[in-house]
Amino acid sequence: MILEVQDLKINFTTAGGLLQAVRGVSFSVAAGEVLGIVGESGSGKSVTAHSILRLLPGNGEVAGGDIRYNSSSVLSLNPEQLRRFRGQEVGIIFQEPGRSFDPIYSIGKAMSETLRAHNPDMNDEEARRRSIQLLEEAKVPQAAERLGNFPHQFSGGLLQRVMIALALASDPKILIADEPTTALDVTIQAQIIELLLELKERRGLSILFITHNLALISGIADRVVVMYSGLILEQGPAHQVLHAPRHPYTRALLSSILSMGDHHSSRRVAIIRGGVPDPTRPEPGCPFAPRCPLAGPECRAAVPALSSEAGVDHRCIYPGVKGEDLYARS
Ligand SMILES: Nc1ncnc2c1ncn2[C@@H]1O[C@H](COP(=O)(O)OP(=O)(O)O)[C@@H](O)[C@H]1O
Ligand code: SF4
Ligand SMILES: [Mg+2]
Repeated sequence: MILEVQDLKINFTTAGGLLQAVRGVSFSVAAGEVLGIVGESGSGKSVTAHSILRLLPGNGEVAGGDIRYNSSSVLSLNPEQLRRFRGQEVGIIFQEPGRSFDPIYSIGKAMSETLRAHNPDMNDEEARRRSIQLLEEAKVPQAAERLGNFPHQFSGGLLQRVMIALALASDPKILIADEPTTALDVTIQAQIIELLLELKERRGLSILFITHNLALISGIADRVVVMYSGLILEQGPAHQVLHAPRHPYTRALLSSILSMGDHHSSRRVAIIRGGVPDPTRPEPGCPFAPRCPLAGPECRAAVPALSSEAGVDHRCIYPGVKGEDLYARS
């Protein structure tokens, strides 16, 4: 395994008290593998991703567990090792590529600065050539001509491609993509996913693909982690989690996908309405209990332990039966 997250816990100090954003999350990513992390907004996906790069804000801290990259702890890297880790091992792209660019710099300048940060000896011509190669690899048309353009002169989809080119500048082994297509329309989303899959094949990249949209995961992920309320509720091979989900939360996510655009099924969608639990006041038991049609008193006693069945892990006392549609019943 190239990356191992082990029982990771992340807390924030907030005006409302201690906020437990991540409550003991474990997963691993193999070389050349795409791991999808899915869950509603607020479930702890971004915080988990940022902690891998040690990018938590000042009021956040890793309160337990470990993050291991090629068997070494990322949490104990010294500043120089951390700079190299961020520069050469892991690249990250965000939902809003516009925010990652300084509006007063041309794309060419942003790229050559990034390239030089990793290779201080690179001259102007080398940086220009390498920038064009990277933009072409990310399928930005007329790469050479576009180096002089500024961020606002790109569409959202193209700017995300430039962001991917920038993330590849240091030849990372892992690419963390945090909702990289959420701000884009459906056709452009599909093109970005296709690009990520090509890069995975060509470069042998590992990808951590984070989204709140389970429908996107099936097109890209080898394995899937379903997060909710700072916990993993289900994880396993993508085909098993998506086609024979055991956990009621995964099944609810899948049901709301299936009923998208269907006016006769508003009841199904309603089941998954309601917010994720308040992380400053976590439920003592299963975090999904307030929204789960199968919840009983035993579910509310303690967070269900992780059970493994046929390569899939889940935290549910009454996991589903294959093929049964929990949310279609009246
Ligand atoms: N800087 C911060 N200070 C306080 N709470 C935060 C901060 N960043 C994130 N959180 C909280 O941590 C939880 C997880 O957030 P996040 O990882 O961004 O969720 P997701 O990416 O799954 O939507 C949320 O409850 C969020 O409000
Ligand atoms: S443990 Fe209970 S409340 Fe939680 S998802 Fe399973 S059945 Fe529902
Ligand atoms: Mg997020």
